[in-house]
Amino acid sequence: MKRLKWGMIGGGEGSQIGPAHRLGAQADGNFVLAAGALDADAQKGRAYAMELGVAGDRAYGNWQEMLEGERNREDRVDLVTVATPNSTHFEITKAFLEAGFNVLCEKPMTMSVEEGEEIVRVARASGKICAVNYCYSAYPMVREMRQMVASGQIGRVRLIVTNFSHGHHGDATDADNPRVRWRYDPAMAGVSGQFADCGIHALHMASFVAGDQVRSLSADFASTIPSRELEDDAMVNFRMEGGTVGRLWSSSVAIGRQHGFDIQVFGETGGMRWASEQPNQVYYTPVGGRTQIMEKGEPGLSNEAARLSRVAIAHPEGFPLAVANIYVDLAAALRGATRDALPMAEDGLRSMAAVYAAVDSAAQEGAWVDARPPMLRA
Ligand SMILES: NC(=O)c1ccc[n+]([C@@H]2O[C@H](COP(=O)([O-])OP(=O)(O)OC[C@H]3O[C@@H](n4cnc5c(N)ncnc54)[C@H](O)[C@@H]3O)[C@@H](O)[C@H]2O)c1
Repeated sequence: MKRLKWGMIGGGEGSQIGPAHRLGAQADGNFVLAAGALDADAQKGRAYAMELGVAGDRAYGNWQEMLEGERNREDRVDLVTVATPNSTHFEITKAFLEAGFNVLCEKPMTMSVEEGEEIVRVARASGKICAVNYCYSAYPMVREMRQMVASGQIGRVRLIVTNFSHGHHGDATDADNPRVRWRYDPAMAGVSGQFADCGIHALHMASFVAGDQVRSLSADFASTIPSRELEDDAMVNFRMEGGTVGRLWSSSVAIGRQHGFDIQVFGETGGMRWASEQPNQVYYTPVGGRTQIMEKGEPGLSNEAARLSRVAIAHPEGFPLAVANIYVDLAAALRGATRDALPMAEDGLRSMAAVYAAVDSAAQEGAWVDARPPMLRA
């Protein structure tokens, strides 16, 4: 199998998400790190790229240098991952798409709906892949839940309850720490804090499992630590196109909750529950029946769950492997296969439209507002 050449922007030494991408992209031998502009500090970025095995002439000081350096090479990278802070995603992703590169962008894909629409337009015009790293959707048992909904096993989905609430920004005495403070500063984070950071993962998960899209929502935002301009707690009610009722709670001040991402799906003939802290199990209850624990790796699961299970039954399925599954699908797509489950620019755009709708709704005391991006309305 020919290895695909991979480039990375951001994700430098000490970054949170960089190691997950490197492990994810390279775990299966699909991608080899061939180029990078890894750090805001040019010197550090070059040095670290070379430490990771990138040739000196492809260890770039910044993304503009990388774009110029790669665009005219015969052996240009097949895929560029954008893992920089949020406010830079749009500019970098757009520039690389326009130059004919395939891109995997971190979430949130952009800072505004207009930028999101522009990325979708550019991606469509370029014919290149622009994927977004909603990596939780690549857990095998999340795929199993999606498959169970699609095959009608729990009937029409009436209700979804999902949370992405942790307590890691709950210490008011740490609120001025620069690594925390920017997330609640509109100049750095945009129009939303916690909802745009974590809530959109939960909203994407709801759509992904239900096989449906959010149509409208109502939000209540709170900055429970008063020095914060943007919300650190959000309660969002939503309705899906097919009528499913949704409840989403996202918080960063829920002290005691660690990762805190879970989803419950309630259908006409059964219910399911999954939590990212126990990603190997789905709890399934048929109507009038006993609760069953479905385990990753056991016989009888869908092909999709089986395909993405990497370790034997009862072994923990790590978060980086969910990222790896995004890369598995990207590699397959780059080689011409169809991968319908890959989160795409449209998903990034829908998230941004939901963020703006939530901000709008919260400002109107929870009024119901249209959450669909204009370009994707029927
Ligand atoms: N999908 C997920 O589950 C998930 C999880 C964590 C973070 N993220 C996203 O990943 C992105 C990065 O988050 P993080 O927590 O790793 O941030 P971080 O602050 O830990 O690291 C950011 C890295 O990007 C580098 N950088 C900054 N500006 C740059 C530029 N212009 N060019 C090149 N490199 C630059 C920094 O030097 C650093 O190495 C964010 O958009 C975040 O929302 C996604």
